[in-house]
Amino acid sequence: MAASPSIHLVTEIPGPKSRALVARREAATPPGAAKLTPIAIERAHGAVVTDVDGNRYLDLAGGIGTLAVGHTPDAVVGAIKEQVDKLIHMCFIVGTYEAPVALCERLNALAPGAFPKRTVLMNSGAEALETAVLIARSHTKRQGVVVFDGAYHGRTNLTLAMTSKFNLFKKGYGPFAPEVYRLPFPNAFRRPAGMTAEAWVDWHVGNLEHSFTAIVDPSHVAAVVIEPVLGEGGFIPIPAPFLQRLRQLCDTHGMLLICDEVQAGMGRTGKLWACEHAGVVPDILCTAKSLGAGMPISAVIGRATVMESPHAGGLGGTYSGNPLACVAALAALDTITDPAFLARAVVVGERMRAGLLAIQARHPRLVGDVRGLGPMLAMELVKDPDTREPWLEATQAVNAATLQRGLITIRAGLYSNCVRLLPPLTISDAELDEAMTVLSASVDAVAAALGVA
Ligand SMILES: Cc1ncc(COP(=O)(O)O)c(C=O)c1O
Repeated sequence: MAASPSIHLVTEIPGPKSRALVARREAATPPGAAKLTPIAIERAHGAVVTDVDGNRYLDLAGGIGTLAVGHTPDAVVGAIKEQVDKLIHMCFIVGTYEAPVALCERLNALAPGAFPKRTVLMNSGAEALETAVLIARSHTKRQGVVVFDGAYHGRTNLTLAMTSKFNLFKKGYGPFAPEVYRLPFPNAFRRPAGMTAEAWVDWHVGNLEHSFTAIVDPSHVAAVVIEPVLGEGGFIPIPAPFLQRLRQLCDTHGMLLICDEVQAGMGRTGKLWACEHAGVVPDILCTAKSLGAGMPISAVIGRATVMESPHAGGLGGTYSGNPLACVAALAALDTITDPAFLARAVVVGERMRAGLLAIQARHPRLVGDVRGLGPMLAMELVKDPDTREPWLEATQAVNAATLQRGLITIRAGLYSNCVRLLPPLTISDAELDEAMTVLSASVDAVAAALGVA
């Protein structure tokens, strides 16, 4: 017997109550506060979201990668409920309590690298990245930070300097923090015509040496900061040889390697950490998003010798180590570190990739690329598969079309022309199949409307 569908729409989308609440939002908040869909949410569980009009959606945005363990997972909800009566906030600067201690111990043990580690907890991805850079500067007594094309590291002044994609994130906001140097990396989809993917990677690996002469001298560089899979940049996995060469260069020149696993970590790629795919061990690893199952928390985990460099009192924040966020993270980690969870994440990825490749096979003119690592997958939409000219409007149309059919999807990419999929990794086969059927029908409809079917 076929499972009953999860998606259930009872009004037009957005419905009247969504429209009313979104109108209030628009009157109360500035347009700069980003808003990707016109729906207002009442509740969510697992992969299913219910809006204020009673419409049920499947969620492949997953809080922009925050919900590896799904919406309101019982274990996380239970842990928060148990904690909330005891202690909501004290401030880890003022007193010590167990949840953040246990979380730091746990993350020290889980992060890659057979060396002593220390963890400092923060509240957001941006804060984690900024803190990691401060620690690296303190340790190396150097100032330079090397980042890459397409990077997204956050919206504080330093992390905006480190972030790519000027128009959406940086326009009008300068001056940005100095001493940030940006390098290219091998994006296979955008390689020159006639060049093999391997030659493209080789060229960039070779170019690293040149960059550390032409762009910045390594003796000036505190840290190289890289997302092992670009998130906002379009779900582009950094080729393993490139990451491995970076590791070598860091070792040779005393630069620290910082992996930004805010989006790609916590099982999102089918391994706990994305850098594991390349066998690369960073000096500092930043994680957030799915760490807290939706609670605002991030972590900077690193070599003890590095992490102990800032002076006593030089790190911290009022809410860092908040007990509710920490018990949520401990419960989420129980799930994510279960080998069965990660094995399932791999299967989710394989199933989704097959679905995306089938869509591409039907629409080779529109779907230029299907890529990602494990279940962190996206498809890039183009006007022409030969020129690979990005097609932003087609991507917006697909996101809108899926929503009209009860599937929440969002975009990504330097050109905002990728449909990225970040499902709860707890999603069932039936839910995933339903989602991929809707995505497929949506691309069909958009391709037909744009005359590229
Ligand atoms: C790779 C990466 N780093 C940093 C950030 C910033 O995280 P936050 O929005 O929590 O500040 C993000 C957010 O999308 C991210 O994807």
